[in-house]
Amino acid sequence: MGTPVTLIPGDGIGPSIASATVRILEAAGADISFDVQSAGMAGLATYGDPIPEQTLDSIRHTRVALKGPLETPVGEGFRSINVALRKTFDLYANVRPAHTIVPGGRYQGIDIVLVRENTEGLYVGIEHYIKVGNDARAAAESIAIITRAGSERIIRYAFDYAVKHGRRKVTLVHKANILKFSQGLFLDVGRLVAREYAGIQFNEMIVDAAAMNLVLRPEKFDVIVTTNLFGDILSDLISGLVGGLGLAPGANIGQGCAIFEAVHGTAPDIAGKGVANPGALILAACMMLEYMTDGERAARIRNALEAVIREGISTTGDLGGTASTDQFTDAIIARL
Ligand code: NAI
Repeated sequence: MGTPVTLIPGDGIGPSIASATVRILEAAGADISFDVQSAGMAGLATYGDPIPEQTLDSIRHTRVALKGPLETPVGEGFRSINVALRKTFDLYANVRPAHTIVPGGRYQGIDIVLVRENTEGLYVGIEHYIKVGNDARAAAESIAIITRAGSERIIRYAFDYAVKHGRRKVTLVHKANILKFSQGLFLDVGRLVAREYAGIQFNEMIVDAAAMNLVLRPEKFDVIVTTNLFGDILSDLISGLVGGLGLAPGANIGQGCAIFEAVHGTAPDIAGKGVANPGALILAACMMLEYMTDGERAARIRNALEAVIREGISTTGDLGGTASTDQFTDAIIARL
């Protein structure tokens, strides 16, 4: 019996990229025993609930999940499933790496890890309209909550990540020049935490300057830590620097619990055609192996995936090739 992990194949292309990922993990000899659960439309079909209690129970037990993309049913009362999972398990750190795989693109040598605060800021959902005269929606207010405790745990996470992964620099991205209280608190906490990590260079950058520098000199960035909204935007920006969301993995990490996922959606336009690129979910599984302290196997799988992509013979359509999901997966397994 391997380490129990909850597997949520997901909707659309989810089941096909999930089975490709499981095949690769098995071929690499990963000591995992998957508890397959449903969510999204699959959860709705089986249990009448897009976030079935059974699935939550499984994650409560395994504390680690690998998740394909989910379609949130449209209509009253359906929350975003991803936000609900984040809240249920207090997954405060969203980790998004962006790394150049294919040389010769617009940018070279990018190796950035963005750590986004996942629970606070403008995304706490405190919003209301203000009535003026007859206009019930004359104004709207959204309140950003930044706490010392929330800032400290995410910034500490970023520094600990840097130490653990042999990285040299943490850049804290903020807007404290304008939002002096909320962003100011985040920055203050960052300066205090940084003093405890003498071996890691600490850099602070205003978000507008960060946006420009990420386009002009992305190779200068190492680990970035930032608040929820800025992280949401900049994490997709850095994916764009290395070729888009097709190869973008993400991790949502809390205290003793983590969910690893492909960043892209269910790709309804190609679902069922057997041509989806499983790369993002495979890379998410590599992050999961690292989290489970099996970094050596993660590196082996990642190297095989990157070699197949660089070789360019057995790649899927989104990467410019003609291979099916299965052929791409077989080529990775052959390289392991
Ligand atoms: P999408 O990411 O599913 O698709 C955008 C485009 O990228 C499509 O042309 C698609 O074919 C392509 N694409 C995406 N992943 C691919 C892959 N692995 N291989 C090859 N091509 C790929 O985004 P869209 O269309 O906005 O959303 C579709 C559904 O996915 C919606 O229901 C949305 O709510 C859901 N979604 C779920 C997410 C999650 O569970 N994390 C994240 C984003 C969207």
